Amino acid sequence: MEMASVWVLVLVLCAASCNVFAEGNPERESLTSFKNSLENPRVLFSWNGTTTHCNWVGVTCELGRVVSLSLPALFLKGPLSPSLFSLPSLTVLDLSSNRSVPSELGELTHLEILELELNFFTGKIPPELGKLKQLKTLDLSGNALTGTLPSQLGELTQLQFLDLSNNLLSGSLPVTLLTNLQSLTSLDVSNNSLAGSVPSEIGNLKNLTDLYLGPLPEELSKLKSLSKLDLS
Ligand SMILES: *[C@@H]1O[C@H](CO)[C@@H](O)[C@H](O)[C@H]1NC(C)=O
Ligand SMILES: *[C@@H]1O[C@H](CO)[C@@H](O)[C@H](O)[C@H]1NC(C)=O
Ligand SMILES: *[C@@H]1O[C@H](CO)[C@@H](O)[C@H](O)[C@H]1NC(C)=O
Ligand SMILES: *[C@@H]1O[C@H](CO)[C@@H](O)[C@H](O)[C@H]1NC(C)=O
Repeated sequence: MEMASVWVLVLVLCAASCNVFAEGNPERESLTSFKNSLENPRVLFSWNGTTTHCNWVGVTCELGRVVSLSLPALFLKGPLSPSLFSLPSLTVLDLSSNRSVPSELGELTHLEILELELNFFTGKIPPELGKLKQLKTLDLSGNALTGTLPSQLGELTQLQFLDLSNNLLSGSLPVTLLTNLQSLTSLDVSNNSLAGSVPSEIGNLKNLTDLYLGPLPEELSKLKSLSKLDLS
């Protein structure tokens, strides 16, 4: 092959795979679409056309793929965009306030820690979350999420820590969640608008050590003599 043809071939292959700067890069587009979905996109002003998305604040790449997205304490406001789940190499997604720092690495379908607590995320919990099969920690607490809990949460069979507290969630606890999430040790759905009784399947969660289902009236704590409490 002539040298010129080799270069044409390299350029063609590169256009498909190593062009991280161009608009056409799907991961750059996913990040841009996440930014544009925010009500306060200005917070991410550094995410602009002057540089590759791998240099954007909070973004870490390895071999041109986004592996970590860490935007704690920015108080991002807006829906929980499904485009966040189109970053296949992502291992850490930390959009929390800076109260906790995740430490593990993996791939998006191998994402183990997802911390989005204490932002102003609105809208529903995306059913796409059910794709993150390796997730061990899911913290969406302290946002303004509405709607019912998607039954797909029951597909997160590795989950040990689930905190959905302090949102505006309604409906009841999906039975799939209580039958499938056998590894769960901590479940917090308190301070939502969940209705109805707790499904009897809750008895399946044998490893549970922490369970928060409130609200119960705060005044209960004033009953200093109380030694038995039956809520059946
Ligand atoms: C674009 O991003 C760079 C950092 O990457 C920042 O210094 C610059 O202020 C940004 N430009 C605008 C118009 O926000
Ligand atoms: C969290 O972020 C705020 C604002 O950036 C900063 O003032 C504060 O010290 C940080 N807290 C911790 C525990 O890092
Ligand atoms: C309940 O959650 C809301 C946010 O949805 C929060 O503003 C409020 O302080 C929480 N209440 C308690 C008692 O934690
Ligand atoms: C429950 O906990 C025990 C002891 O920590 C552990 O060996 C077991 O694998 C756990 N079960 C599940 C389903 O995670």
